[in-house]
Amino acid sequence: MLKLKGSLKISGDKSISHRALILAALSVGKTKISNLLESDDVLRTVKILRDLGIIIKKKDPYWIVYGNGTCGFFEPNTALDCGNSGTTARLMIGAVSSNPINCTFIGDSSLQKRSMSRVTDYLKTIGAEVSLTKNDYLPLMITGSENLLPKEHKIKTPSAQIKSALLLSGLNIHGITTVVETKPTRDHTERLLKYLDVKFKLNKLKGGRTKIELNGPYEINAKDIKVASDPSSAAFFIVGALITPNSEIELKNIMLNPSRIAFIDVLKKMGAKITVKKTKKICGEDIGTVKVKYSRLKGVKINSYLSPLIIDEYPILAIAATQAKGKTIMKGLAELRHKESDRIKSIVSNLKKLNFDVISEEDNIIIQNKDVKMMNKKTIKTYNDHRIAMSFLILSIIYDNKILVDNEDCISISYPKFHTHLNKLLKKN
Ligand code: S3P
Repeated sequence: MLKLKGSLKISGDKSISHRALILAALSVGKTKISNLLESDDVLRTVKILRDLGIIIKKKDPYWIVYGNGTCGFFEPNTALDCGNSGTTARLMIGAVSSNPINCTFIGDSSLQKRSMSRVTDYLKTIGAEVSLTKNDYLPLMITGSENLLPKEHKIKTPSAQIKSALLLSGLNIHGITTVVETKPTRDHTERLLKYLDVKFKLNKLKGGRTKIELNGPYEINAKDIKVASDPSSAAFFIVGALITPNSEIELKNIMLNPSRIAFIDVLKKMGAKITVKKTKKICGEDIGTVKVKYSRLKGVKINSYLSPLIIDEYPILAIAATQAKGKTIMKGLAELRHKESDRIKSIVSNLKKLNFDVISEEDNIIIQNKDVKMMNKKTIKTYNDHRIAMSFLILSIIYDNKILVDNEDCISISYPKFHTHLNKLLKKN
């Protein structure tokens, strides 16, 4: 069997890459972005910004964005194609809403099944005109306005995409836009705004709620942005090293935002030998080195309050759970049904197919350790979901590559260098 050994710099963070491009477009002047993730999803955001009149050039290793300001989008003469990217769709709908232009947003068959009303319902209450397919889906048409109302939005579903859409919209609204979230979600938009010297109020309320107040419209002066490396991409190799005997790896430049690395605490609770060392801060985000050694894991209960903070890591945590002694219970996973695939179904059906002991009860997944022998090759169904594909390829390492995935192409949605990086780490025993 192979092991994972060595040191690696993971590609740029997907969430920050989208936000870096959009906030650079909304700034005035030239932004040089480094370590931008060049994945399918992020390139959708690049193309849409260009369709909206923003000049973006690639000058290796940088991306240069010439921002037009918070009211600088031109009406596009083509439909804005978000492909598979929920983040592109939700954030860009928010960003265009306070510009006086008409836009049509479209997406691929998976994105067409994902709710957009979760963002547009809020935008409608402040005056944006939106018409959606079946009242919830893409394709949708939006007529934005410079005269949207400054209002308070209480976000019901914990979602950084909804929060960010409303904040981006608020940047060109006259008056105070307030966004209250009941459960904390990833806060990269807030951190980048702060880095860009945008003045706003952030208050922590009782019960973990957060209140953000923006007083627009803003003029943001362009400032170069460095993108930290993606902890969600790192999670695949972290779990790979934990479950593959004799492994020992070091991942550098990893973003250590607490709203993104809660999965490391979960793994530590499972007995994982992981050390995290902060090295510096870039553009408002702590970054550092994560070292991981093969460990004997044990099952844990993951409570639902953690779900917004480990939302993208459940597929790879489920893989870790298959190798952990005892039972792992993952609770409160309702939002997983609204990702690139219904991830409760994708995780459970594929693990069952491979003969693991797994059940889903309502919105929970329960995995009981079982000594599974893989006699023959088996192909799992990715449902074109990048995180499902990568998770099962990691599991495949400890089964002599007998687990195949039906579509590896979808990996380029978030991590085009996945195979190159994995091959760099894989070594003979
Ligand atoms: C993201 C937020 C999360 C996450 C997605 C990226 C973001 O979605 O699952 O991969 O960049 O804001 P929700 O905010 O809808 O939970």
